[in-house]
Amino acid sequence: MTTAVAARGLEGIVAANSGICWIDGDAGVLAYRGIDIHELAQRSSFEETAYLLWFGALPTVAQLADFRKNLAAARTLPPEVLRLLESLPKNGTPMEVLRTAVSALSFYDADEKNNDHDANVRKSYRLTAQIALIVACYDRIRKGKPVVAADPTLSHAGNFLWMLTGEKPSPTAEKAFDTALILHADHELNASTFAARVIAATLSDAHSAVTGAIGALKGPLHGGANEAVMRILFAIDKAGADPVEYVRQMLADKKKVSGFGHRVYHTEDPRATHLRRMSEDLCKASGNSKWFEMSRKIEVYIKEEKKLNANVDFYSASMYTTLGIDVDLFTPIFAVSRIAGWAAHIIEQLDDNRLIRPRAEYIGPEYPAPYTPIEQR
Ligand SMILES: CC(C)(COP(=O)(O)OP(=O)(O)OC[C@H]1O[C@@H](n2cnc3c(N)ncnc32)[C@H](O)[C@@H]1OP(=O)(O)O)[C@@H](O)C(=O)NCCC(=O)NCCS
Repeated sequence: MTTAVAARGLEGIVAANSGICWIDGDAGVLAYRGIDIHELAQRSSFEETAYLLWFGALPTVAQLADFRKNLAAARTLPPEVLRLLESLPKNGTPMEVLRTAVSALSFYDADEKNNDHDANVRKSYRLTAQIALIVACYDRIRKGKPVVAADPTLSHAGNFLWMLTGEKPSPTAEKAFDTALILHADHELNASTFAARVIAATLSDAHSAVTGAIGALKGPLHGGANEAVMRILFAIDKAGADPVEYVRQMLADKKKVSGFGHRVYHTEDPRATHLRRMSEDLCKASGNSKWFEMSRKIEVYIKEEKKLNANVDFYSASMYTTLGIDVDLFTPIFAVSRIAGWAAHIIEQLDDNRLIRPRAEYIGPEYPAPYTPIEQR
């Protein structure tokens, strides 16, 4: 029998050595491979950031061109997976569809059973390109619109918006979306990444690890929070309610307000700093600042009342809505970005693998408990 006291939710437990992402939750610092997220948000691109996460250093001009070429070349879905997207129930959520379709991709991936380093890198390109395609194509299919062909000349962000809307995005929209992808790309051992590493560590395969990660991301305590934030804003708007009164009532009813709080950050989530600014800029540019202003009032109140800070999911909600994106695509879009981090962690895990198998503190009936024959129970 073990004697350790379990840390609820593994809080504060160090469960892996990793060279990918560093967080200082007290100082509000997030860095990918040592480079501050603020610098990446302002100066990098999603492709460059994904390269950094996978290969450990910023790419040269030639390496970045190669990375973009490989990613663009992987922008294709097996026809069977496209047919699967058409056949899934129309009342399924895009996140469930993404989970199912990513699992199905393994049937058509030449490297499915190959867990070596190079095969994992090849699968990382494909999964990164294909997750974006699945989200964009499924949204077109469910709306009865024709699927838009990928454009290899566009960036990952630009191509996603193009395939989603059928229109070339404005430079402002593309830049804002690209920055959101950078900000969401990795976050150390968050729940979905940990799930991916646990699955990869059994020597299963990358598609299984990513499918499991998508399942973990879906929950409202993790990636599903961005959708939940927008549903709160919609409810406030529909009821014509005062935003502060609305969340005051939520707290009085002992409900959590999505988009606030964090297991690791005890100060401002550095990603929220950028998302707040982008939400404000995009709302103002659209001539309708309603969602931003509502969000800001809630943020000020929650900070004052509960000392809780807005997290990555709070302002991404108003930002994506202002970009014209449907609310049930927010969490799938989180996956469009987070696949970069999942892939980096799967590669890192399998480069130096050991099965992840912790222990539980046993709190059940005392051993040895009697076995009572069924006729005497
Ligand atoms: C992120 C989150 C899951 C972290 O969870 P955690 O580290 O287990 O922290 P807890 O849920 O134990 O919260 C600690 C305290 O703060 C409160 N709290 C945390 N987040 C809160 C929120 N969003 N709204 C209201 N109260 C909150 C809890 O009720 C708890 O209070 P108590 O000690 O009086 O019971 C949690 O803050 C949360 O549920 N946030 C909303 C969902 C969300 O935005 N998730 C995305 C994270 S990036």
